[in-house]
Amino acid sequence: MSNEELDAVGFDHGFSEEYEEITTINLEDLLKLINVERINYLKCDIEGAEYDFLMGKSLDCIDFLSMELHYIYLGKEKVLALIAHLVRYFNFYDGSILSDFANRWPPPAIVNLINKKFITPILYINRIKKLSKSALKIVFIRILIPSKGKVVFCIKKIKNTLPEPAQLLARTVLDIARETPQGWAVQRLKKKDYSQLPLLASTEQSILRIREAAESIYGISWNFYSDALRREIVHVFETCVKRLSSSHQTINYLEIGSCQGLSMSLMAHLIGNANALGKLVSIDPYFSEGYVEQNNQVAIDKTTRENAHRLYKSLQLDVEHIEDVSSVGLRSLVCGNQRFHLIYIDGAHEGMNPLRDLGLSLELIAENGIIMLDDHRTYPDVKGLKDLCDRHFEKVAECWKIAAYDVSGTVR
Ligand SMILES: C[S@@+](CC[C@H](N)C(=O)[O-])C[C@H]1O[C@@H](n2cnc3c(N)ncnc32)[C@H](O)[C@@H]1O
Repeated sequence: MSNEELDAVGFDHGFSEEYEEITTINLEDLLKLINVERINYLKCDIEGAEYDFLMGKSLDCIDFLSMELHYIYLGKEKVLALIAHLVRYFNFYDGSILSDFANRWPPPAIVNLINKKFITPILYINRIKKLSKSALKIVFIRILIPSKGKVVFCIKKIKNTLPEPAQLLARTVLDIARETPQGWAVQRLKKKDYSQLPLLASTEQSILRIREAAESIYGISWNFYSDALRREIVHVFETCVKRLSSSHQTINYLEIGSCQGLSMSLMAHLIGNANALGKLVSIDPYFSEGYVEQNNQVAIDKTTRENAHRLYKSLQLDVEHIEDVSSVGLRSLVCGNQRFHLIYIDGAHEGMNPLRDLGLSLELIAENGIIMLDDHRTYPDVKGLKDLCDRHFEKVAECWKIAAYDVSGTVR
């Protein structure tokens, strides 16, 4: 399939044009439904619908609010308005109360808010401890996808790890909501199904092999940071390798941010399948204090490094690892006059990091080489860079997560 064909079926958004009906609820009805005046803990992960759900509402009834702030979907104006509304009721809490939160841009993607009347978090924790488990009202609201400006959210995902009374409560809310669909049913976009996206037979085998090896090392958390084995993402990688292997006998691959080693392992296999395996170099600091991206529950640290190296070993891959931040690691490669045909920028996605990574990668790229930018949809600082690349480079492939460019016009 060409990129044009993929674009035509909505490939680069990851969603189809089809809609399906789901149940929604607003805060006022939610309180009525569960018949409480207060919610002790509200978790709200509703993909941008948090603005409509919380904005302008009286929120004094919530003790603790843990929420995702989808500032990319919502835009700066709405997010700042929402934050201004939230600070009327809450203090921002991150182990301790944060005083400067309201002035930060971009804001953190995950925020924890503690009702102002609990002057210190300890007071809140003590109160929670005093409540009997059955009295603890925990509500989880999780969204599916915002669709064409409508608020689309539903109560979902009852985490099995929750105490049983909370699970029961969440189940009850779900049941009532399901039985009362009038006025609540809205349409949401269905996720696009990529199961029919064609890949090379050798690629299919590699995916299975890497998944099996990763699962044996990481167990259920094998894919917490990557998605590299999803078909639409593999398709982008495969397109880049096909193009490079038609003009280069050897492909040197550099990856910034290798994490659990999934994308590195996959790329190594794809390049190996094309009989073009050159150098494999990874830059990742594996911070000892742990690196956590977005709402992930697993920290990337030295144990992750050990596991990534175990994964490479089990797949018989010879990966050279530079254990440093990219600003240092990339400079050392530039000073060593290294050249790479394919570079995947997937390290820190915020601030000046993506820009610095791209700038230094342009110094390292070989003739007709390809640079891939990761997570352009989720991170504004990558999105800005993608806009720049769209204007100045030839796009080789793109999906909702990764955009790949032939940057040969810039080579010295
Ligand atoms: C999303 S993970 C990469 C996922 C990986 N490419 C995959 O798909 O399998 C991001 C990685 O970037 C690393 N990282 C964070 N800050 C970095 C920096 N300044 N330079 C290089 N890597 C960094 C983190 O340690 C983490 O392993």
